[in-house]
Amino acid sequence: MFNDIIRPRRLRTSDNLRRLVRETRISPESLIWPIFVVEGENIYQEIESLPGQYHYSPDQLYRMVERAQEHGVSRVILFGLPKDKDECGSGAWAEDGIVQQGIRKIKELAPEMYVVTDVCMCEYTSHGHCGILCGRDVDNDKTLEVLAKTALSHARAGADMVAPSDMMDGRVAAIRSILDENGFQNIPIMAYSAKFASYFYGPFREAAGSAPSFGDRRSYQMDPHNGREAMRECELDVTEGADILMVKPALAYLDLVHEARQRFDLPIACYAVSGEYAMVKAAAKAGLIDEYGVMCESAVCMYRAGADILITYYACELADAIRKGDIG
Ligand code: PBG
Repeated sequence: MFNDIIRPRRLRTSDNLRRLVRETRISPESLIWPIFVVEGENIYQEIESLPGQYHYSPDQLYRMVERAQEHGVSRVILFGLPKDKDECGSGAWAEDGIVQQGIRKIKELAPEMYVVTDVCMCEYTSHGHCGILCGRDVDNDKTLEVLAKTALSHARAGADMVAPSDMMDGRVAAIRSILDENGFQNIPIMAYSAKFASYFYGPFREAAGSAPSFGDRRSYQMDPHNGREAMRECELDVTEGADILMVKPALAYLDLVHEARQRFDLPIACYAVSGEYAMVKAAAKAGLIDEYGVMCESAVCMYRAGADILITYYACELADAIRKGDIG
């Protein structure tokens, strides 16, 4: 029976009113923009698999800083593409490694920019796996040592926060302890806690040159079937000292963003990964969808699910959309 006193449409009658009653409020302050730094000079090249995103050599990072400032984005997460790789990924913790160079450069150009670093081995190992191999599998405990060294070298280079994405057991504790022993008690850890073995990372692996040369990442990244296990991973990271928990990918995993938000008190980040971005770009190019609309709507849904922080290749465009009031 229609109760004609209760009319939800009443609150949808004008744009002004709809903006007044939005349940989900978004700030550009919650956006983090992923950046790819490559070894070399004079490299400023659009990434084929991620249209609108670039490879920057350190001397070209001023272009990224300018673009970020233009859009009011002041948080980035860095990924590195080294010139040389080896079996154990030693480039990851080299004092003059590519991420370390990138951090110093950004801090020199824009000290106010908040620099997070991705801590992982896959861009630095010749085999493309996220750690030290033992036979054809990644040795968890040996990998902890190199991850810890890597995080420490990022902190020494001036990183503001480290974000381990390798999915080894115990890496948050290992990183926390090496940072603390070396006077970096105040460097937070954003843990890629519920990171799934996902086909949505395809364009990233092309961009970062980090596809595994054999096998896949299913012995360390999570099985997409498992939601309870994702909460267990979050719980473990909380006990190991993580400061921020992350769910990755985002759009197909919003149930877990929601659940993590309900269960834990820490800030929850979600990562709208390369495949999510590339799909929107490709569909828009094919004339199938409205890119701006889909970008806005997807982001709103991530926040509505419970994300406090959004890591996205659309950070600059979303910051503008939020300021215009199209979302947020
Ligand atoms: C490194 C890492 C990956 C991503 C973030 N950190 C790739 C992977 O795990 O294979 C994916 C990000 C994206 O797809 O945008 N391990």
